[in-house]
Amino acid sequence: MKWDLKEFRIDLSTLGNFPVELDPINKAHEKLSARLRSDIGFFDCPVKVRSLLPDIHKQAKALRARHDRVVCLGIGGSHLGAWTLIEALRTPQDASTFPLCWGSNFDPPFVERARHFLKEGTSTALVVISKSGNTVETLSAFAQLCDKQTQPLLITDSKSGELRRLANQYGWPTLPVPENIGGRFSVLTAVGLLPAALAGIDIESVLSGAIAMHEYLQGCAPQDNPAYLLATAKHSLHVRSGYAMQYLMPYWSSLRPFSDWYVQLWAESLGKNGRGPSPAAALGSQDQHSLLQLFKDGPKNKLIGFVNVTDETKTSVKNPVFESPDFSYLWNIPVGRLNRLACDSTQTSLGRSGVPTYRIDLPSLNARTLGALFLFFELSCAFAAELYGVNAFDQPGVEETKQLLRDALQNQP
Ligand code: PA5
Repeated sequence: MKWDLKEFRIDLSTLGNFPVELDPINKAHEKLSARLRSDIGFFDCPVKVRSLLPDIHKQAKALRARHDRVVCLGIGGSHLGAWTLIEALRTPQDASTFPLCWGSNFDPPFVERARHFLKEGTSTALVVISKSGNTVETLSAFAQLCDKQTQPLLITDSKSGELRRLANQYGWPTLPVPENIGGRFSVLTAVGLLPAALAGIDIESVLSGAIAMHEYLQGCAPQDNPAYLLATAKHSLHVRSGYAMQYLMPYWSSLRPFSDWYVQLWAESLGKNGRGPSPAAALGSQDQHSLLQLFKDGPKNKLIGFVNVTDETKTSVKNPVFESPDFSYLWNIPVGRLNRLACDSTQTSLGRSGVPTYRIDLPSLNARTLGALFLFFELSCAFAAELYGVNAFDQPGVEETKQLLRDALQNQP
């Protein structure tokens, strides 16, 4: 099974045989569609969020005009999507003209690093992202880094939470997180788009890629929908054949955060009631020389998804300054081709050992293809939740731990 979508090509033919049973697919489709029509907003969000773009641009422009660098604070769904966009798409020039420091693991080394970062600039913008507005790690870092002169921008729920209360009290600017979109599904809202705009990324193109994907997926019959079929294959390989560990292995380092985003999406949405796969992240050649041995010859409980970029034009070809005739096949080829062939070799090798794989090839890594990829994986994950019989849109385990931490802080001796 292969699809040439406008934004990328997806190939599931190397996953082996998995049953495409119409009944469970149609039932899961009906249940998911009912939720998308009532209380869940991520799928329609790329269209709806367009009305917020002028405000996002205005805020980003104002911050860049007043400051020479930015610290962003946010954790989990309030971090990984934005960070993926930034790491994949920010140009080196922008990174040096408007440096950005992200705090997502709030510990003493982070606070030290952030304070040093603040000292190095003349004026630092502060962006704080928390849907609930009550996550204590984020609030703590905010308290550590905000001084009397700072006018932070807060991205949070439009009605409730401590960040909203503070914004109301101090008149700080805000952008909303839609009520019907959970943290890990919120990359295509202000949560992902404002930091991306601050980092000089073309957020209109991110949305136009997501909108094109939305139109494509919406037009598919359930049994032909590639996002559904990827979920169906992964679910079936897990529950029928024990392939519980489901890696995503981009071959481009700038897509490494995308696999962290995927891990959170899959883990927090599907890991419930004793069910759910174990998603994991790996990176191209680095893990080809590390995890591959285990993937190939270890326990047969892993399936691997590859993401590669086929564009070879961005990489220069350089002749070596030394002589090395035995390796002449290596000179004069684009680095992107070497990378693609490395990915091909890994996939072939895993295929020889019967390890199920799938592959997504992006013609090039840009705002459009990434926007499309986000929406594709979000829909696939939400569909997988229906197959597993769990609610993709809550996270009781995470909420309980947030409460335990608040209790522990309140009950300190
Ligand atoms: O996806 C989720 O809901 C979580 O990962 C949250 O994003 C994370 O716990 C942070 O929550 P908040 O955005 O409320 O600070």
